Amino acid sequence: MKPSSASAQANPNIAFIKYWGNQSQELRIPVNGSISMNMAGLETVTSVIFDDAISGDTLSINGKMVEGKGLERVSSILEIGRRAAGIHSYAQVMSTNNFPTGAGIASSAAAFAALAKATVSALGLPWDEPAISRLARMGSGSASRSVPGGFVEWYVGESDESSYAETIAPAEHWALADCVAIVSASHKKTGSTEGHALAPTSPLQGARVADTPRRLELCRNAIRARDMRALAEVIELDSNIMHAVMMTSSPALFYWQPETLAVMAAVREWREDGLLAGYTIDAGANVHVICEQTSAAEVQTRLRNVPGVQRVLMSSAGGGAKLV
Ligand code: DP6
Repeated sequence: MKPSSASAQANPNIAFIKYWGNQSQELRIPVNGSISMNMAGLETVTSVIFDDAISGDTLSINGKMVEGKGLERVSSILEIGRRAAGIHSYAQVMSTNNFPTGAGIASSAAAFAALAKATVSALGLPWDEPAISRLARMGSGSASRSVPGGFVEWYVGESDESSYAETIAPAEHWALADCVAIVSASHKKTGSTEGHALAPTSPLQGARVADTPRRLELCRNAIRARDMRALAEVIELDSNIMHAVMMTSSPALFYWQPETLAVMAAVREWREDGLLAGYTIDAGANVHVICEQTSAAEVQTRLRNVPGVQRVLMSSAGGGAKLV
């Protein structure tokens, strides 16, 4: 077979309603549905070259060769593609990010969305967007949401076939900004894969999951109506509930730093004073502050003045994974 290649680009996404815990850890079928916004401007570009001449899959991230667990995770995605296409060639995978890895901005989401998109194209598989979203999901659950564009819902599903993500509103629907207050750029101690496995050990997880359909509905409605106050309230509630589960699992996971709480308190105060914004925090210490574009400059300036905030990364609603 002649070498066949493709390159794809994807954005990370910020979850408004969070994914935390799996029905199937292996297939990454979640215990609850989730909703997110793709983050424009932050990008991963991944190239995949299937080539008979190489004797094993290889992976480089930002020019550095990666082996072990990281390579295995990528190989398992390539393997699903190879099986579907009926080929045996190994692949060379090269990925570059334009944003810091391991700092609470889920780089794995953009990485596996771009990898899935490029793999399917390089192999010439006639897969639609849900199928590509499912493939990305196998690499990293939240990556399923970086395949479709704009505002996205990942349906919980009960099987591999039914657990994929879809656009619920295009990026143009609502000019939102994500102002990410970076309070720590260091690598998190417990990654999300291990964290998902601990979720069922929290006595609060059952209540969180049972209430998720209600929060999903509030979030969908807020997006549909472009209601910033309703969105701020539901994303803060959802983030707080997930962190309550994290803090009460065994072992307990604490991702917040004192600076994280300082930003959370500031955002709530600003909202009381009329500056409409809401916070949400993933498995890290950094705080994503969501607001309308018209308030973004003000939010950015204020965030920079909160002690402990090192820098503020700005993003807006972005598109889905695409070939480049
Ligand atoms: C807290 O998708 O990173 O960011 O499937 O193990 O790669 P893996 O987990 P991942 O989990 C994301 C968790 C979260 C919430 C979210 O993005 O929904």
